Amino acid sequence: MSGPPYGIGVIGAGDISRLHALACRGLPGLAKLVAVADLDGERAEQVRRQHGFEIATTDTAAMLARDDIDVVSVCTRPNLHARLAGMALEAGKHVLCEKPLAHNLPDCDALIETADAHPEALLSVVYQWRNDRHFQALRALVDRGDLGRPLMGSMVVRTNRGAAYYQDGAARESWALDGGGALMVIGIHQLDLLTTMFGEAAECSARMDTFTKPTEAEDSMAGWIRFKSGALVTLACSVCDHESNFDVTVLGERASARLNGARRGRPPAPQECRLTLHAASRGDRMALRAGRLADLPHRLSAPILRSRVRRTADRLLRRPFVPPTSWWHGPMVEEFLVAVRDGHPAPVPPRQARRSVEIAAALYQSARTGETVSLPLRQGDPGYDHLPEAPAVRAVR
Ligand SMILES: NC(=O)c1ccc[n+]([C@@H]2O[C@H](COP(=O)([O-])OP(=O)(O)OC[C@H]3O[C@@H](n4cnc5c(N)ncnc54)[C@H](O)[C@@H]3O)[C@@H](O)[C@H]2O)c1
Repeated sequence: MSGPPYGIGVIGAGDISRLHALACRGLPGLAKLVAVADLDGERAEQVRRQHGFEIATTDTAAMLARDDIDVVSVCTRPNLHARLAGMALEAGKHVLCEKPLAHNLPDCDALIETADAHPEALLSVVYQWRNDRHFQALRALVDRGDLGRPLMGSMVVRTNRGAAYYQDGAARESWALDGGGALMVIGIHQLDLLTTMFGEAAECSARMDTFTKPTEAEDSMAGWIRFKSGALVTLACSVCDHESNFDVTVLGERASARLNGARRGRPPAPQECRLTLHAASRGDRMALRAGRLADLPHRLSAPILRSRVRRTADRLLRRPFVPPTSWWHGPMVEEFLVAVRDGHPAPVPPRQARRSVEIAAALYQSARTGETVSLPLRQGDPGYDHLPEAPAVRAVR
């Protein structure tokens, strides 16, 4: 493989492929858009034209055989992640796979096995919230012990999915393609963040329902997780709300911290959230302030500041706001390509990315059986494969 800019191939020209393409366009020194593949040739061609890929194709295998592609973004639905990311690794490509690692644990473990067999290729999973400056500041406070021992936490993700989302014919929030509904499709981001701060989960319990949305899997879930550290975390996840809320809170022995964003329409993006800190004692408040300054969550870099000013101006002048490439997937894609260039470990290696799928599988098992479920989940454990036994679900896998 030659040095950067790396030839980029994208598999799956759906909604999320555009964020990969946009991020790469913002990184001309690291990335060069070569090919986009989709079973639907028209979709692939549309993305090619919009973002300037050299070719569009319906033949993924032929794309993976090209020498001018070094890095592959897997942007299909989760039921195909293990197969397509596996094919790309076997073709000698570095792989950036969309979240989740896969739609169930058997596929996660199959993909981890393939990645282990190809240590020369990097496999990382897109959890772009990890690159958010406010989240990084929160994580640093936890890692440094500034909040004291984490006792409790909460994750809230509530949004409203409009009718159009379910009418695009893509079986949104289905067991077969996504491995679940609100939790697996959206809440998995927050589950991933929790695993970076609270470590391994020990047990969990949940209840779920499909209240109003035309989905096969749940549109709402509530539950709790106890981590091995003893910390207790509650979760609430729904796509039936009337505004969008994102909230991750850590309550420590000495102080608490809350990462939060709310907006109308789609869920808030990382750059739209804020971090707030609370401590009862004056000494702890001063330590938090010092930590916050050290982590720079509020010192805005010039490009971010410019983007915020532009967004406010666009809002006032009622003009559409085009987000800069430093938002959304930009920082995550950049970190991945730098890791490829410099031989660093993957930003989100597959074993780390498996943790959130494992917790999700356990929560689904609990919601189905009404029992509290213990972790870890390994092959042969009830709930290891959390997908329903329906023949239609089995057929697509
Ligand atoms: N990181 C995030 O915030 C975020 C947000 C949305 C979606 N996602 C993830 O992105 C992935 C894709 O979601 P989406 O909403 O873009 O899906 P989508 O259904 O809009 O697009 C998937 C595309 O893959 C194509 N495809 C299917 N099988 C294929 C194959 N064998 N070879 C090539 N192309 C194939 C389909 O034709 C479709 O165009 C999912 O894993 C989802 O979880 C991540």
